[in-house]
Amino acid sequence: MIFDTHAHYDDEKFDPDRDELLLSLKDAGIGRIINVMSDMDSLESTRDLTERYPFVYGAAGIHPSDIRELTMEDMERVRQFCRHEKCVAVGEIGLDYYWDKDNPEQQRFWFEFQADMAREEKLPVIVHSRDAAEDTVSIAKEAGLADTGGVMHCFSYSKEIAKALLDMGLYLGIGGVITFKNARKLAETVEYSPLDRLLLETDCPYLAPEPYRGKRNSSLYLPFVADRIAEIKGITSEEVIRITRENAMRLFGI
Ligand code: NI
Repeated sequence: MIFDTHAHYDDEKFDPDRDELLLSLKDAGIGRIINVMSDMDSLESTRDLTERYPFVYGAAGIHPSDIRELTMEDMERVRQFCRHEKCVAVGEIGLDYYWDKDNPEQQRFWFEFQADMAREEKLPVIVHSRDAAEDTVSIAKEAGLADTGGVMHCFSYSKEIAKALLDMGLYLGIGGVITFKNARKLAETVEYSPLDRLLLETDCPYLAPEPYRGKRNSSLYLPFVADRIAEIKGITSEEVIRITRENAMRLFGI
């Protein structure tokens, strides 16, 4: 049974066939999904999915690209969702200096704020970080993520950054990018990282693996990711699926 630790099934790209697709996952061996919030609109849609489907869990948090208009009242609603029985993480939170270069201080403020909230609510974090490796590592240290626990989702940095995060006890989320032909650096990181610290994720509808690169992604394509990790590690895909599932159950307390 595959555990997809990062999905956005509330995205409008799933509007035409959301229920049909979600109901087909079990037969395809997908047993658990975390639907991750990104903006305030995704709070209710994520909560609805977790209440409708026993195998869907939620993560409560605001993505660094969606914090410009964020208020403390909004954050209070996010905190309330943290206390929902199906909410298992705070995320996605973090820094994105690739898409948003002009508000780094505002991004850091809300990353730290939500990391503190995760600790207070006793939930692990799901971190998004792009073009912001150094600031992410330093905030992770200052905010005590070694104690809070969490995953660096869609890990895309060097082996050195992986080491710094692994040393803090954090997990690395691996998705479709690992199947891309130009993903040599990421393949080195996967080879280097202990299997008991890796998680499978889609980030769907984004980042579909080969041979579906560029198409709409879904949990159905995760076997391609597991196969590539298995190839790098020299083990079977079944072992990758089993161990990453155990990792996710441990981290998210399911
Ligand atoms: Ni995401």
